[in-house]
Amino acid sequence: MLQTKLNISRKMTVSVPGDKSISHRTVLFCALSEGTSEIHGFLEGEDPKHTLSAFAALGLQYEQKAPGSYRIQSPGKKNLRSPKSELDFGNAGTGIRLSAGLLSGLPGIQAVLTGDASLQKRPMARIIDPIRAMGGQIRSVHGNGQAPLEVKGSQLQAYTYKSPIASAQIKSALVFASLASDISLEYEEPELSRDHTENMISFLGGKIEYRSPLRFRIEGPYKFSSAAYQVPRDLSSASFFLVLALCAKGEPTLIPNVGLNPSRIGVLTVLKRMNGKIEIQNQRKECGEIVGDLLVYPSHLQKIEIEEALIPSIIDEIPILTIAGLFSEGGFSIRHAKELRAKESDRIHAMVKNLQTLGITVEEYEDGYAFGEVSQIKTGSIDTFMDHRIAMSFSILAKLADVNLSIDDVSWVDTSFPGFFQILKEF
Ligand code: S3P
Repeated sequence: MLQTKLNISRKMTVSVPGDKSISHRTVLFCALSEGTSEIHGFLEGEDPKHTLSAFAALGLQYEQKAPGSYRIQSPGKKNLRSPKSELDFGNAGTGIRLSAGLLSGLPGIQAVLTGDASLQKRPMARIIDPIRAMGGQIRSVHGNGQAPLEVKGSQLQAYTYKSPIASAQIKSALVFASLASDISLEYEEPELSRDHTENMISFLGGKIEYRSPLRFRIEGPYKFSSAAYQVPRDLSSASFFLVLALCAKGEPTLIPNVGLNPSRIGVLTVLKRMNGKIEIQNQRKECGEIVGDLLVYPSHLQKIEIEEALIPSIIDEIPILTIAGLFSEGGFSIRHAKELRAKESDRIHAMVKNLQTLGITVEEYEDGYAFGEVSQIKTGSIDTFMDHRIAMSFSILAKLADVNLSIDDVSWVDTSFPGFFQILKEF
């Protein structure tokens, strides 16, 4: 296994920014709720800021009171208006998919939703097809199943959908479409994907009826009152420093106030099974979400088999878990993770290519990759493929191994984790 060069000489405290998934959703729920809402702990990253700007173009008014704190005024869903120009969601799959769902269910709205070159390569048929089956008018402008998407909002019909993919973005797109059109939806998924949208409905006093842990029903009409949201800090962002703290030597690291939603904590399950020492302290519930503090100790990590059922709950953490694998006895292997190819980059290709650049022998599969125990790496140039998590994962590796990696474009980090490099510098 790689030997770390990082010795943490005093107990560190790392404050990570607000949760990206929840930040996007707060904007959409504010738009649905007539009146004045407040958001605190909002992620000031490019992705959710694009969603906020998009809804401002639809008639939402917002005022920033302090970093991460906003007062938002919505005219109510029936009074949102068509934007004058294209809505740009930047790099954010969550922003475009959830917003496309919501707008599809609002009669009279016409909009074109688009994003950057990475977003324009990502699959959209997964939401276009079920939204059309609900009676929605949404199409891929170039007919290639990708963004830009043209939406003509209409009154949708009650729908039952059994999704072939465990995806919170598909699930939430259909939920927001149903909330916009005041129709019922019965939704089933093959494994539990993150359930923040469902939690927010409950937090706002709405009813969700669970037919089984993977199947639920919501029923309109929906009337949400404006609310005050406290966004927990993002466990996915915390996972970069979680791995740094586990693989380093020396003193423990505290990461306070992170979201510990059960559908997101696979990264903790995996790292603990790898022999990582992580204590959860001060667990509590805020805004319908479980939150707690993580105390992380340097640990001797070992390879484990990661089973298929865990994949949806670690999907965003696989790049950084791979870096943990470099510092683990036995190496690393991930399978059943074909969805990685549909992220901000094809993360299977991105990880395999960059690891090979560093001289590591990696086996690539359609649904994952594997490498044996690693004892040394070469320096090299890292291609981020416009993907923030690839940039951060290899920055953590560079710090732990004390190697100089030239990473092509670290500005992608600002989509989800502004301030990442300042924190990294403190170690
Ligand atoms: C997200 C869902 C996940 C995740 C993404 C954020 C969300 O994608 O990878 O970063 O906020 O709903 P899936 O749609 O694959 O679940």
